[in-house]
Amino acid sequence: MTGRFFGWGFLTAAMARMGLWTTGYDWSPVAVEGASNLFDHKRLEFKVHDFVTEPPPRELAPGSLDVVACRLTLPYVDRHIAMGDFRRWLKPHTGTLYLVVQVWERQQPGMFRGYPDAVIEDLRHGWAHTARWDLDLAGEYTALALTGPGSP
Ligand SMILES: C[S@@+](CC[C@H](N)C(=O)[O-])C[C@H]1O[C@@H](n2cnc3c(N)ncnc32)[C@H](O)[C@@H]1O
Repeated sequence: MTGRFFGWGFLTAAMARMGLWTTGYDWSPVAVEGASNLFDHKRLEFKVHDFVTEPPPRELAPGSLDVVACRLTLPYVDRHIAMGDFRRWLKPHTGTLYLVVQVWERQQPGMFRGYPDAVIEDLRHGWAHTARWDLDLAGEYTALALTGPGSP
């Protein structure tokens, strides 16, 4: 995997600047080291964790999180397991999952990480409040804010 596919911590750092105690996870030590070198904030940390091969991080207790942000990363893990984990970690009534995914029908040729629109819409089921908006004019990148997963 080359560097351009790594997360560099910009979203994580922005969340810390907004006032959230924030941890950014990535399986790549290179990505974590790069993000740690780029950003320094008292509410911010980066950790190496592989969400496919390792059990979930112990610090992610059920019903404990205000926000989970997963931008362009859901297709790299098991979608069903991850969505279940996100729901469990978030506070039942106010917890919010922010997702960014690519829309398969609108992707440029050669890209392969998106989901069909119907799958994206299905991600909205079972939450108290949902919103969806496109991030580009072509509608290739779309965002979801899913709030209120219910009791873990
Ligand atoms: C397309 S990048 C998106 C990065 C970041 N979220 C952003 O929006 O800039 C996908 C990221 O997922 C990470 N990743 C892929 N598989 C992973 C896994 N099993 N566990 C943790 N991170 C993983 C990659 O190292 C990469 O940094």
